[in-house]
Amino acid sequence: MDLNERLNKVKEREKRITENMSKIKYKIAVLSGKGGVGKTTISVNLAVGLMEEGFLVGLLDLDLHGPNIVRMLGIKENPTIENSLIKPPTYLKNMKVMSMAMLLEESQPLAWRGPMKHSVIQQFLADTDWGELDFLIFDLPPGTGDEALSLFQLVKMDGIVLVTTPQKVAIDDVSRAMNFAIEMNQKVLGLIINMSYLICPQCKTKIDLFGENAAKDFAELVGIDVLGEIPMDPAIAKLADAGKPVVSFLRGSEVEKSFRAVIGTMLEKLGKVSTGG
Ligand SMILES: Nc1ncnc2c1ncn2[C@@H]1O[C@H](COP(=O)(O)OP(=O)(O)OP(=O)(O)O)[C@@H](O)[C@H]1O
Ligand SMILES: [Mg+2]
Repeated sequence: MDLNERLNKVKEREKRITENMSKIKYKIAVLSGKGGVGKTTISVNLAVGLMEEGFLVGLLDLDLHGPNIVRMLGIKENPTIENSLIKPPTYLKNMKVMSMAMLLEESQPLAWRGPMKHSVIQQFLADTDWGELDFLIFDLPPGTGDEALSLFQLVKMDGIVLVTTPQKVAIDDVSRAMNFAIEMNQKVLGLIINMSYLICPQCKTKIDLFGENAAKDFAELVGIDVLGEIPMDPAIAKLADAGKPVVSFLRGSEVEKSFRAVIGTMLEKLGKVSTGG
């Protein structure tokens, strides 16, 4: 392929990304500084919660090295190719989900450098049949590496949701992630504080595990909203491993309520969103 052909291909792909993304009302990326703070858990439960409210939702797993969404939703199908487009499998009929895990053997490692990842992310955006959606949620790997960089270069998000746990070390890192998002000209929607507290199983008292308001103080200091707090609950991890998102499999729980509250706050912040594509 000569240089001109290559350039034309790149331009065509960029055009398809713009076209595809313009059919999606709200593009939301879930970002953190530290690993393991709950981004994937939050992406999955926000997506499922929004779907349950009647929105058309897609979920794109951009953690190429550690893709967890397929397990957390218990998805068994793989994508198919139709009319040269990747047709993503769905969770419960209509939530479209795409992940690297669907394209790899289980435990197969990935040793890719930035440009390779950039090209895969472009394909996920340009060549996937997302159709008309109300929301597309992007689950990112921890930190501000290639995946976040590529995504933010390619797509203007309607909001970045930052995730942290209450410890100072996680807050230090989320502060870096926030500044990265701002430098990339992206809009930060707010902060979710995960594993914020524990409800005593016996006496139902709220226990502040880390005993401080550091995350809230941080949000206030830098002028971002707290979208909500999610308690620590072993059921979250257990159900996630079983492919059952807590928001629909632990109805009536404090955890479910906390996710619904975050969704409510998010919708308010985005302005009233009407359902149905
Ligand atoms: N509020 C919570 N209470 C209890 N367990 C939780 C909670 N949130 C997440 N977990 C568990 O913590 C682990 C890490 O969560 P998760 O995979 O969502 O984090 P992550 O930020 O996406 O991680 P990574 O940075 O590796 O992508 C998982 O086992 C998950 O089930
Ligand atoms: Mg994750």
